Amino acid sequence: MKNDDVIENKNDYDCEEEEDDDDEIEKAHLLNVLKSFQGYGLMQLRQVAKWEESYTHIAPDILNVLGTSLDDHIQKLKFATGMNQQFLDFLIYPHLPKSTSEPERVIPTEWNGGKVRSTLLQFMREWSKEGESERNQSFPLIFKAIDEYLPLSLQDTVNDIHSSSSLTDSSKQDEGTYRPKILVPGAGLGRLCFDLAMRGYSVEGNEFSYFMLIGSNAVLNRMICAFSEDATDYEKKQDAGISEDQVGWKNWTIYPFIHNAANQVSWENMLRTVAIPDVHCTKFPDNWSLSMIAGEFLQVYLPQPESFDGIVTHFFIDTANNITEYIRCIYSTLKKGGYWINYGPLLYHYTDIDGELSVELPLGEVLKVAKYFGFEMLSHSTHSSTYCADHNSLMSTRYTSHFLVFRRPK
Ligand SMILES: C[S@@+](CC[C@H](N)C(=O)[O-])C[C@H]1O[C@@H](n2cnc3c(N)ncnc32)[C@H](O)[C@@H]1O
Repeated sequence: MKNDDVIENKNDYDCEEEEDDDDEIEKAHLLNVLKSFQGYGLMQLRQVAKWEESYTHIAPDILNVLGTSLDDHIQKLKFATGMNQQFLDFLIYPHLPKSTSEPERVIPTEWNGGKVRSTLLQFMREWSKEGESERNQSFPLIFKAIDEYLPLSLQDTVNDIHSSSSLTDSSKQDEGTYRPKILVPGAGLGRLCFDLAMRGYSVEGNEFSYFMLIGSNAVLNRMICAFSEDATDYEKKQDAGISEDQVGWKNWTIYPFIHNAANQVSWENMLRTVAIPDVHCTKFPDNWSLSMIAGEFLQVYLPQPESFDGIVTHFFIDTANNITEYIRCIYSTLKKGGYWINYGPLLYHYTDIDGELSVELPLGEVLKVAKYFGFEMLSHSTHSSTYCADHNSLMSTRYTSHFLVFRRPK
């Protein structure tokens, strides 16, 4: 994900007039993102029309061989587009300016249209059963490291960390127990944060993309598990007179693979659905603690030294303009004795973007920089991984992800 969706941080500005300008820019940016969600259907129908037109070039005898499957496929694609659009409309509903009239839908820019398509795929990765195998490439490793280095009970390790900093209320379970505070920068749609919080940690996600923030807000607050038998929460909302279509408490069936006709093994594969979400996000255990902070990582956390027991960067460190500044910030944001757990490749996100700084260091150099700041490396292993992949596709991209655990010395 790239950075046209940066939310500017107002802390840098002390002039009121500039703050107003900044607010205006931010509002315009949010509106642009909302419009992009609304314009998805038009964009996708244009693509479907292009495919439909291309089929008219198939010779009649070959069309006979293919029978009605082409027409059928086109009709199903149009239906799937409509279903995706309904889902996207649901996501953005609470953020729209109040109006009773139908929105004026316009085709988004290429860039924003790509972001909307990625958001649908990201939902598949983070919040569907189909995405579980991809999540399982890394989540168990992260949970194991967290359990080992930042156990939930008050043990020596955690005690040591807190001897230098005071416990916050949200992290204090009761007398004698402590829930480590974990930061997940670049949280995407929030699934890793959610799973960590379900394990009992006090979790803060950070994200700067409105596409992701709008999505995580909806799934964490307004959706019920697609596989749950009782829909009590949904019924409660209905009793309260809140319309299902408008504010939610639903689950959804989306079509995340309809955007790409290349490397498909069958029409059915392109049209397969995923159910969202695969867990009940609205039923939280006692002492649940999960928050999502909007803003650019460096701007939000450089001013918050020694605030977290653990930082988990998951497919994140390569989103930096300057990875060395991310490492500086991770180091300073950790409490003394805290842990940095990283999983992912080095797919530097700004590499092809004109006018953007992109400091691209190989892994060995990244490790040297971490050591320079003072990190002690506790473990390092490599793992083959995919990201938002269609596992039935005829093409696959695999990353060699590096799983690293560091400690900031006491
Ligand atoms: C590759 S995605 C990873 C998402 C999620 N962690 C996962 O593993 O599925 C990187 C995420 O970081 C966010 N991001 C990139 N740069 C950021 C920054 N400087 N501050 C906050 N979020 C950022 C992007 O919007 C995107 O959601």
